Amino acid sequence: MDFHSAYKGAFIRLSKSEAAKGMLMGLPAVRRAKERFIAGDTLGDGVRVVADLNNYMRDGNAYPISGVLDFVGESVTSREEAASAVQTYCGILSAIKANSLDSRIAVKLSQLGLDIGLDFCRENIGIVADHAQRYGICVEIDAEEDAKARRTLDIYKDLHRKGRDVAIYLQSARKGSIDDAKELGEMGAKVRLVKIAYRESPDVAWQCKTDIDDSYRFLMATLSTGTVGNVSKLIVATHDDIMIKEMQRLISYGLADNEKIEFDMLLGIRSDRIRELAGEGHHTGVYVPYGKDWYPYFCRRVGERPENLVFVARSFFS
Ligand code: FDA
Repeated sequence: MDFHSAYKGAFIRLSKSEAAKGMLMGLPAVRRAKERFIAGDTLGDGVRVVADLNNYMRDGNAYPISGVLDFVGESVTSREEAASAVQTYCGILSAIKANSLDSRIAVKLSQLGLDIGLDFCRENIGIVADHAQRYGICVEIDAEEDAKARRTLDIYKDLHRKGRDVAIYLQSARKGSIDDAKELGEMGAKVRLVKIAYRESPDVAWQCKTDIDDSYRFLMATLSTGTVGNVSKLIVATHDDIMIKEMQRLISYGLADNEKIEFDMLLGIRSDRIRELAGEGHHTGVYVPYGKDWYPYFCRRVGERPENLVFVARSFFS
């Protein structure tokens, strides 16, 4: 295992520790550090950040960047919590409409009760997707651990069959993503390609960065050039310049259609670069998480880059 994987693994373990959560969330310095990655505690905070992105201007020209609003939270264990998340997402959709925002929403099926029951979760995501359909807003389904991947894909296919506007995340680190990509390509799905934010066993996922990157390149090229069917949209969700430049090369050679490609990044990471891409005429988006249950999301972000630990350490002295 390389250093990067070991470092990331340590933070994923930390993200699941209730004891660490209780201690770290209480520290003012950690709460200050999380502000880089989380829009704030309330929907109003998320709305403000998305509105700023939508209104991005440079040299007097408008280069609107889309938002993807995410209400942080995952792996709920009670029906009440899942029902409450459904209501929250319906509220987010209404706020997007009321504020005329250019924004989608991102949901985790585990937040809508996937671990409680498949039919229960199907019903919940159905309510959210119906609500979104009425407002013409796309629902993106986040990719979680491999154990949830098959059920997530089944639910996605169901919604797609019913004509709901949904996008699904595909993780390049997951070995099963290659087969999923073929299926999604044939369906003309909207796909968002990411590397991986979780830790998986070698049976199901590539472990080292080189393999994960090679898989990303392969999936990005096959999905964007129509080699595996024709996805209706490919969201290249990465901060990695090598991947971004390869995607731009496919577009400039005429092998991929710029109109069907969008570059997305996470709030607080490489914000200059996403603005630059918007200015170059690409469709762009930023994933904007908000909410009080920010701890696991925050740990995953810090664990993606050792330099982020220095950033957190600095917040103890600011
Ligand atoms: P990589 O990790 O190779 O990083 C490339 C470069 O980007 C780094 O060298 C650094 O400069 C910068 N960078 C990356 N992460 C950083 C960080 N945290 N802080 C500062 N700089 C950083 N995953 C998942 O499993 N399920 C999901 O649903 C999603 N959803 C999602 C949406 C969007 C819009 C994005 C951009 C990413 C996700 N992810 C995700 C997370 C993804 O899987 C991955 O963990 C991170 O994006 C980091 O991988 P990169 O592709 O950026 O490459």
